[in-house]
Amino acid sequence: MEALRKLVRETDLSPSNLIAPLFVVERGKRREVQSMPGVFQFPVEEAAEEAAKLSALGILAAILFGIPAKKDAEGSGAWDDDGVIQRALRAIRRACPDMALIADACFCEYTDHGHCGVLKGKEIDNDATLANLRKTAVSQARAGADVIAPSGMMDGMVAAIRDALDADGLHGTAIMSYAVKYASVFYGPFREAAESAPAFGDRRGYQMDPANAREALREARLDAAEGADIVMVKPAISCLDIISAVSRNLDLPVAAYSVSGEYSMVKAAARMGWLDEKKAAMEMLTAVKRAGASAIITYWAADASRWMGGG
Ligand code: PBG
Repeated sequence: MEALRKLVRETDLSPSNLIAPLFVVERGKRREVQSMPGVFQFPVEEAAEEAAKLSALGILAAILFGIPAKKDAEGSGAWDDDGVIQRALRAIRRACPDMALIADACFCEYTDHGHCGVLKGKEIDNDATLANLRKTAVSQARAGADVIAPSGMMDGMVAAIRDALDADGLHGTAIMSYAVKYASVFYGPFREAAESAPAFGDRRGYQMDPANAREALREARLDAAEGADIVMVKPAISCLDIISAVSRNLDLPVAAYSVSGEYSMVKAAARMGWLDEKKAAMEMLTAVKRAGASAIITYWAADASRWMGGG
């Protein structure tokens, strides 16, 4: 009977576990992402309205991705104090004073070549990218980000950001590191949403080989030692073993990113009538929590919260 099932249930998912991604555009109107039905790019003011709706549904946190009007070789829009993500942070903060705001700190949305940092030839220049990351983190924190989430997998990124934040007196700003990020095909739809597909090559120079598990622990431990407050594993559903290993071997909170491809494949199957979207999504999110993630970034945040009776 249901009462007994509830009594012995080991994993309880709640809206407070979920982080909602928000894509904010500097120019243009609200637009649905073609490969991610139900996911939108919002202009700044509408992003604030959307955040207020999420908040009313019991969602406590949002992660923001900015899509600038202009891109350049270094991605300088990322650290513009009046840039899209900075303006979005201020607008959402006004609309939702209590929401935890996480700023994705990466350059692939801001560079004209779509790679996650400054290029030297066809390779990423790690140190030049770290210098830009410092400026970006400080600018985002000053605009109101509670958490900086570096997603480029650059070596030393957490230490560089912690140092830059502290030097600016921003001691209270936390860092959620994309510590374990695989070079995954499941990011495909996101690149349409964030307009960040690399113009050439791929991201295997800086993201992990999906065949490796022990390396994940090394990456997570390094970021912990550099001062990360939360470590993230990404993608989620193909990395349940990794989420489990990281949460058992480290004493930091673990977040998992249920990425665009996880969402789009269920949406597509549901549209064909081949899967029940709600049941599939809830099973996946519960599995990710069961594996050891306390926070889950998911494009189902609003729907899942409604399904759980939130709002
Ligand atoms: C940016 C970034 C990516 C995602 C989050 N931050 C794309 C990438 O690394 O190519 C993917 C998220 C998703 O697929 O939902 N570095």
